Order: sequence, then C-alpha cells, then structure tokens
Amino acid sequence: MSAKAFDAIETASRDEIIALQTERIAWTLAHAYRNIPYMRAKFEAAGVRPEDFKELSDLAKFPFTTKQDLRETYPFGMFAVPLSQVARIHASSGTTGKPTVVGYTLRDLETWAHLMARSIYAAGGRPGDKVHVSYGYGLFTGGLGAHYGAERLGCTVIPFGGGQTERQVQLIQDFAPDIIMVTPSYMLAIADEFERQGLDPAKSSLRLGIHGAEPWTQEMRAEIEKRFAIDAVDLYGLSEVIGPGVAQECIESKDGPTIWEDHFYPEIIDPQTGEVLPDGELGELVFTSLTKEAMPVIRYRTRDLTRLLPPTARSFRRIAKICGRSDDMLIIRGVNVFPSQIEELILKQPKLSPHYQLEVYREGHLDALNVHVELKPEFATLTAAEKEFIAHDLQHHIKSYVGITTRVEIKPIGAIERSIGKAKRVLDRRPK
Ligand code: DLL
Repeated sequence: MSAKAFDAIETASRDEIIALQTERIAWTLAHAYRNIPYMRAKFEAAGVRPEDFKELSDLAKFPFTTKQDLRETYPFGMFAVPLSQVARIHASSGTTGKPTVVGYTLRDLETWAHLMARSIYAAGGRPGDKVHVSYGYGLFTGGLGAHYGAERLGCTVIPFGGGQTERQVQLIQDFAPDIIMVTPSYMLAIADEFERQGLDPAKSSLRLGIHGAEPWTQEMRAEIEKRFAIDAVDLYGLSEVIGPGVAQECIESKDGPTIWEDHFYPEIIDPQTGEVLPDGELGELVFTSLTKEAMPVIRYRTRDLTRLLPPTARSFRRIAKICGRSDDMLIIRGVNVFPSQIEELILKQPKLSPHYQLEVYREGHLDALNVHVELKPEFATLTAAEKEFIAHDLQHHIKSYVGITTRVEIKPIGAIERSIGKAKRVLDRRPK
C-alpha cells in the first residue's frame, strides 16, 4: 500500500465524481422519501418529490434538515430501516435537552470503518502503526470511529479512551505508539502531564497526531507539533452525518480537511437566508449523505462555519479550518466573536499557555467578556506587575484585531479546567 491514496476514487476526475454524487443523491432522496414518514411529509410540504432531482443543482429545491427535526423525531423517527436492521446506535449529548440519536446498519458500519481507514491513511498512518486512541469510547462517535478505522487499516489499536491522564502518559511511554488520536485540547493536557512527570513529550515515540471533534487554530497546531515534535492533522466529522471521517486533512498538504465527497455531498449556505453560496465563500456547512442506509441525512445544517476550497492533494474539495459553530458565536456590543479568534491571539503571546476560557456576563443591557488564561509553567514566577503587563498586552491585541474590549485575567496554573474530550471554551454567566 504505497500509493498516494487509499481508494482509486480519491484521484478520479471531477466528472466521475459528479456522476457518482448525482446517482447517489437520487438514491438517497428516494430512500428517505420512501422509508421515513417524517421526511416524506417534509418533501410534500415543500412541494418536491425525489424525481425532481436530475442534477446536482436541483438539490437546492429540497428542504434542509436541522437539529430541530432530529429532536422532533427523537429517538428513532429518522431511521429509514426497521430497528431490527440497526446494528448500532450512537448519540451526542448536545448542550440542551435530549441527545441527538443516530443509527447504523452493518453496511453503514463497514462504510464508516472504511472511511476512517482512508482518513488515517491520508493523515499519514500506515498498516503496522500502533495507534493510541484517546477519544472517548461509548455513545460519542470519536473512540469507536477511530478504533474500527485503525483496525481496518491494519494498525495495532490501543483503545485507551479519555481521562486518566497520568496512565495515558505511562502507556504511551511503555507501548510506544506511532499515532495518537485525541481532541487537540486534551492533547495539550497530555503534554502538560508528560512535563509534570519530568518527561519531554518531544522524545516520545509519537510521529503523528490526528485531532478533531472541536475547533482548533493553526497556532494550536504549531504548539502541538512543536511540543511533541510530530505532525498534527485535522479530522472532521459529526454524528448526524456519520461521526469522525467525513473529512480528513492530508499530511502532504496540511491545507484543511479533504471531504470524502463520494459519501457526503457538501454545500455552503448563507445561515440567514439559506441560499447556496459559491465555493470559497464563508457560510454554514450543509451535508447530504450519499450512501447511508439507517439514517440518511438530506441537506443537514451542521451549524459549522467554513468555506469550500478547491481540490489539492485529492480530487475532492476541502473545507477551511472550521472557524466556529454558529451557536458558539458571541455578540459582544454588536461585534461577532468566535473563541478561535481569541485563541489565535493568546497563542501569539509567548508567555501564555493554550489553556483558556471565555466568561460572558451581562453588564447593564450588554454582554461583556472576560478572558481567563494561564501562563506557561516556566513563567509561573513572574511578578504581579509583569503579569499585568501581559494581560494588558493581550487586551490591546484583542481590541485591535477583534474590535472588542475585554478584561484579561491571568489565572494560577491549573485553575482552568482541563478537558478530557471537547474543551468548554465559553462560560455563560448571563441571566437566563
Ligand atoms: O465530534 C465527531 C468527531 C470525533 C470528529 C472525533 C473528529 C474526531 P459530534 O460529537 O457529533 O461528533 O460533534 C460534531 O464537533 O459539528 C463541529 O462543530 C465539531 N467538530 C468536529 N470535528 C471538528 C474539527 C464529533 N476537526 C461537531 N474542527 C461538529 C472543528 C470540529 N470542529
């Protein structure tokens, strides 16, 4: 397996890809219409039938699917096959109310394992590599998704899961894995734990980190790559669409995740009007599944904001790094702010650590923002005046680059909660 790509379709012509997508969307629309009463009703309300789809541009006639639709059909109302054919269920916790439930047939699980194997291969993994999985196992799709993909590729899997950071470090030392699969924020907690034990993470056996499940900036990538002396690449996905393995950044270009367009059809829309935007424009990412049996999704609104970029390392299009979710966007005195914008500026300050949290609160009628951040451990002994200087400097940069006034608080080392999965970047103290 020395080829550049795992599957021939990854380097096919755009015409071939478009033909495959067209055929598969037609199948998916018919499958959903025939087998999901809720979707049939939605199509009827919108005055469309599967036969109205003839070419890719016709997809825009079909209604979007939203998280609200999944709530209304909770738990199994979006399944297009009888439960007896559903081999597995996953769910994502969500911030409010009921979890989002997803189901897979045996064939869907095959597809998923295959796409995760393809993802790990594109990331630079090869058969024979040892893969330490620190994504959580269970209802979250991260652990099992990574696990079956790595096995499928022919790797040796160490199914650690999240947490027990001290033991993670011990087993990384003892088992000498080549690859780690973990959220970027937890990767940094693992780096800290190496150092706490007097070990240099750059001397570990790891060669490659496959990170995702939360937004992370280029600055965060640089930090991870430097501390561990590894390549760190971006893995994107969401449970509703399949889990991890919807898109994977290729190691040879490191220019944003390549979408596995033979299984997921992407669109970018204006989140306000729902209008489809041309490639290159910033908007909300929408996916239609092309091969999913148990739970096909049609124009699913991810709420992730990004752009579609032209193919580079493969024939498929890419997404730019996700700049945030529309739900995570803060509006501070009229200015739209994403945590990633603040992260970028924090990581440009050489004395600050990547551990941060944003606290939003109400000041009169307006929202205000405190930035909590820690110093790197080697700067823990700075004087109060020096800390004050760093805090002011960051406030100044946030004001000039993002355009908002914040209060930066330098917290004692360890005061900011460490994630063992997805980091919680925003503490919302506004009255409900
Ligand atoms: O987080 C699946 C996953 C697991 C992806 C492991 C990658 C690695 P959910 O829990 O359903 O599924 O959350 C999906 O997480 O809509 C994005 O907002 C965010 N997300 C996932 N990957 C990335 C990424 C998994 N690479 C939600 N960059 C998505 C930025 C990401 N955000």
